[in-house]
Amino acid sequence: MDNIVGLIGRDELVADLVAEIRKGKHVILTGPVGIGKSAVLREALKRAPINLLIKLDDYQAKGQFIEIARQMLVLGLVSAKELGLPVKFHNLPVADIDWKEVKNQINRMSMRDLTHAIIPALARVDTKPVIAVDDLTSLTPTQMAFWLAIFDHAQVIGCASEKKARVRKLWWKMKEIAVKPLPPDVIRKVVKKYIETKGVLIESPDLYISHVVKQSGGIPQAIYDMLDESGKERIIDKRKVREMRHEAGVSYLDFTPMVMILGALIVSMRYVGMGTGDKTLYIMGGMGAALFLTFRFFIFKGVGR
Ligand SMILES: Nc1ncnc2c1ncn2[C@@H]1O[C@H](COP(=O)(O)OP(=O)(O)OP(=O)(O)O)[C@@H](O)[C@H]1O
Ligand SMILES: [Mg+2]
Repeated sequence: MDNIVGLIGRDELVADLVAEIRKGKHVILTGPVGIGKSAVLREALKRAPINLLIKLDDYQAKGQFIEIARQMLVLGLVSAKELGLPVKFHNLPVADIDWKEVKNQINRMSMRDLTHAIIPALARVDTKPVIAVDDLTSLTPTQMAFWLAIFDHAQVIGCASEKKARVRKLWWKMKEIAVKPLPPDVIRKVVKKYIETKGVLIESPDLYISHVVKQSGGIPQAIYDMLDESGKERIIDKRKVREMRHEAGVSYLDFTPMVMILGALIVSMRYVGMGTGDKTLYIMGGMGAALFLTFRFFIFKGVGR
């Protein structure tokens, strides 16, 4: 969505990330799925002064290797020969290399051989290259070993939506920057900008926006899902707004039935006390009812938050 409305409300976070990149730290951006980790990373990579950048979007280990190899070759950090590519590629300009063929070739190589081809080449470079790898949430043990080896020779910037036990060793070496949900005023800006840009007709924009704020839980992807859904309609009336739901939204725990039952029990205690002549029960019931009425007010206030 940031390609439609731009990245909104993340200036400080992007600046923090850029500062860490400048310091040469390995960084992990964390936060739930759809919170905007990739978007923040993309923006920071644009703003940070980086000499050698290798960007990885592939989740597959082999896919990542091919990308690292290809980009290192393009950057002149490694030769086709060192990568173990067939002889016919050795003196070919990078642009002329058929990567489909190389892919097959690399797919046949073991991860160990690949690591041995890449690490020494990285170690040789004077300024550490920055490797931005979008997702470091789940890694196979082999990938883990590879990344740990890379950490000494490159600066790694990654994202993760979960802290998995298996990748803990990587996290220890990284500075964590948590991406938080967008606050209501920022959500408002996002929604307004989107409505403007896309020209969606909304009967009651304020109602619509406050609904998006509540239902999205501040998660940009959820905001986008709802906006996208609305964009398909010709006009959004109040009924449609009320029907809008998103999983990411704040879920309110409904205490109402429990409170009603508790109230009924306390009141019946009084009557049972009266009927059986049990004074204690009668008095307790009366006090209970008074307390209940007082606290009910606060309970409902608390639940609604
Ligand atoms: N601050 C923002 N302003 C506008 N759009 C945003 C903002 N943050 C994120 N987005 C948009 O929200 C969507 C989700 O963001 P993004 O893909 O960066 O999340 P993520 O945390 O990387 O998710 P995942 O864990 O699934 O990789 C994208 O379409 C992105 O463009
Ligand atoms: Mg992402």
